[in-house]
Amino acid sequence: MLSMASMSDRIPTFLVLFLLFCCVQGQMNQNFYQKSCPNLQTIVRSVVSQAIATEARMGASLLRLFFHDCFVQGCDASILLDDTQTFTGEKTAFPNVNSVRGYEVIDAIKSQVEASCQATVSCADIVALAARDSVNLLGGPTWNVALGRRDARTASLSQANSDLPGPGSSLSTLISMFNAKNLSAQDMTVLSGAHTIGQGQCFLFRDRIYNDVNINASFAALRQQTCPISGNDSNLAPIDVQSPVTFDNAYYVNLVNQKGMFHSDQELFNGGSQDSLVQQYSTDSAAFFTAFAKSMVRLGGITPLTGKSGEIRLNCRTVN
Ligand code: HEM
Repeated sequence: MLSMASMSDRIPTFLVLFLLFCCVQGQMNQNFYQKSCPNLQTIVRSVVSQAIATEARMGASLLRLFFHDCFVQGCDASILLDDTQTFTGEKTAFPNVNSVRGYEVIDAIKSQVEASCQATVSCADIVALAARDSVNLLGGPTWNVALGRRDARTASLSQANSDLPGPGSSLSTLISMFNAKNLSAQDMTVLSGAHTIGQGQCFLFRDRIYNDVNINASFAALRQQTCPISGNDSNLAPIDVQSPVTFDNAYYVNLVNQKGMFHSDQELFNGGSQDSLVQQYSTDSAAFFTAFAKSMVRLGGITPLTGKSGEIRLNCRTVN
C-alpha cells in the first residue's frame, strides 16, 4: 500500500512522465488518422500500386520525391507547390527541374483521399506513405510511417538548390550534407541504396563514364553507348545496371564491382569510411532492408510541421 504522502509524490511524477512521453514524441504517430481517415493507407497503396503497374519506374520517382521534399524545409510537401506569378516554389531548382517526377500520382492519391475524408490528411503524409509503399511494392521492406505532418505554406528555391546533394559530390560533402539534416554517415550510405531502382539522365553521369578512374571499363563502355560525350543529355539509363525495377541490395554489389552510376555513388566504395558498410550490404540484403526501413523513418522525421503549424492543403499544388 502506498501512503498518502508517497502517492501524492508519485502521481505528479506519472503525470509529468506521461505528458513528456506524449509531447516529446511530437504529435506524430502511425495511428494519427485511424479515426479521421481509416481508409487512408488502403487508398495510398492502391493508387501507388496502379501507378507502378503502368510504369514500374514511378515507384523510384515517388521515393525520390520524398527525399527531395524532406531535405528542403523538412517533410512538409513544400516541393509540391506550383510556381505562380507571385510565388516561386522548388520545382525549378536544379536538382528538381525536368528530373523529379510523380506529382500527378500524388494528385491522384490526394483527390481520392479528399473524397473519403475531406480536409484531414496532409500532402506531406501522403508523400511519406507513397514512398514507403513504392519501396515495398518493388520488393523492398516495409515499415510503419509516423503520421501527423502538416503542409508548408512556403517553399524555398534557394534551399532546394543548396541542400540537395549532386551527382558529383565527394564522400565528405555527402556526409556533411546528411549530417546537416541530423542524419549520420551510415544513414547516408543506407539511404543511397535507394539507387537500386530508377533511372538517371546522361548529363548527370557523363563525367563519371568518361573521366572517372574507379570505374569498371566494360560498364563505362556500356553506358557510353547511349550517353555520347556530347549531346543526348536527357537519355536515360538504369541507375542499377542489374535490376532497375527491383528494390534489392544490387546497388552495393555494383559499387563493389566499380559499377556505381554516379560519381557520388562510387564515393561510398572508394577506399573511405563507408567501404565496410557497402561490403556488408552487398552480401547481406536482410541487413540492408532492416537498416533502410530505420533510416527512412529518420528521413521522415526531418523537421515536420505538427500541431497547429502549417495547414492541411486541399490541393497539394497550392496553399489554401
Ligand atoms: C546521397 C546523395 C544522392 C545523390 C547525389 C543523388 C543523386 C541523384 C541523381 C543525380 C539522380 C538522377 C536524376 C535524373 O537523372 O534526373 C537520382 C535519382 C534517384 N534518386 Fe538519388 N541521390 C542521392 C540520394 C538519394 C536518396 C537518399 C534517395 C531516396 C531515399 C534517392 C532516390 C533516388 C531515386 C529512387 C532515383 C531515381 C528516380 C527516377 O527514376 O525517377 N537518392 N539521384
